Amino acid sequence: MAKMWSGRFGEESSSLLEEFNGSLPFDKKLYREDIAGSIAHATMLREVGILSADEVEKIIFALKQVESEIDSGKFEFKISDEDIHMAIESRITEIIGEAGKKLHTARSRNDQVALDFRLYVLRKNSEIIKLLKNLQATLINLAKNSSDILMPGMTHLQHAQPINFAYHILAYVSMFKRDIERFESSIERNNFSPIGCAALAGTPHQINRHITSSLLDFKEPTINCLDTVSDRDFALEILFNISTMFVHISRFAEELIIWSSYEFKFVTFSDAYSTGSSIMPQKKNPDVAELLRGKTGRVFGNLISLLTVMKGLPLAYNKDMQEDKEGVFDSVETAIISLKIFDKAVATLKINSENMAKACKIGHLTATDLADYLVKVCNVPFREAHHITGRAVAEADRLNIDLSEMGYINLQKIDSRINSDVDEILSLRNSMNSRKSYGGTSQEQTLKQIAFFENWLAGLNK
Ligand code: ARG
Repeated sequence: MAKMWSGRFGEESSSLLEEFNGSLPFDKKLYREDIAGSIAHATMLREVGILSADEVEKIIFALKQVESEIDSGKFEFKISDEDIHMAIESRITEIIGEAGKKLHTARSRNDQVALDFRLYVLRKNSEIIKLLKNLQATLINLAKNSSDILMPGMTHLQHAQPINFAYHILAYVSMFKRDIERFESSIERNNFSPIGCAALAGTPHQINRHITSSLLDFKEPTINCLDTVSDRDFALEILFNISTMFVHISRFAEELIIWSSYEFKFVTFSDAYSTGSSIMPQKKNPDVAELLRGKTGRVFGNLISLLTVMKGLPLAYNKDMQEDKEGVFDSVETAIISLKIFDKAVATLKINSENMAKACKIGHLTATDLADYLVKVCNVPFREAHHITGRAVAEADRLNIDLSEMGYINLQKIDSRINSDVDEILSLRNSMNSRKSYGGTSQEQTLKQIAFFENWLAGLNK
């Protein structure tokens, strides 16, 4: 069949070209956006008097019919149509004849694809925000139930200071809050309508882009058409925002993998979100967390790939830009299923507080407290206090006990300025609760953080 653009061509396209050039196999995902855009465009063409009411009625009728044909799987996608824009246009022309041929007045596929893709990305930003908020609610709930669970806080993956488990979880709540804000600000920044920019330079037709913009719920039309048809920042932003979110997800996943190992056993995944081994009958593997960590690779890849496609492209539209979609679809779909399953895996996680408490008694977590005690109570200069504490730690190792259980009698032998009040100071729970500085791990501060995030999630302290 002759192509819509075949006027100047003498020969038919080769089938290899059709396969190579066409985007229909993947951009058919944009049919709803394409149809919504066309309905808005046609409505505007009627309002400004370019098309008649009768023509537009037919066009909208046909567009809706096409939408239900695609919804119900009856629509026949032909690669000869090249992309979703021409597939829909040729079908409506089949349905209503002449009027269908008028729909493309004052627009181009360049602004059409910019519109469809932007609508898709904006919608997906909102979907991801919703899922992130669900995850936040789950995490805040987990934190609420665990603000008195002691765990070893680490640096360099070595025991450092006692913290509470809720505080650790809230670190991730902070990260996901920033992620949510990034998706939100991307919506704000990109909420401008591309339609009516036409090929690159606008159009001599007396159109009204403000009408299409408000029909499609954008804030305003974009200001410069040349930029608009070349711009894929909105796509790069969602890829970057998903990537950063996956930095956080993968760190959390990694910790869960470590924590669920026999060496730690801080947490146990529910059977519903664990998998077995085909050969080792005893195994229960944290595949969900491993896959979340692993999927980070493709998500980063998609970002790098679009950055590379866009780099150095001359203005305005270039066919290279057809390569923008698959990576975005993949990252978006990966983000959506990952957030759903992550939420479930965390919600059903069993927290083994006794194992965390046991682990706190390894590694002299309260050594800094002893040094601080020597400074605060005994007036010892910090450097000297650090040295004395080092000797106390060596002595505890020799006695094969943890510093928190050493007792002041043993400690006095190392430095006579140490008194019985040190026992309180070196208790693990007191150590955790002594860190009352703003944003610290004490239960008091942790509960404040929980309240802060709860209010934020409820939209109270934006
Ligand atoms: N299928 C194209 C894409 O995905 C649509 C825009 C085509 N524009 C053009 N002038 N060939 O980017």
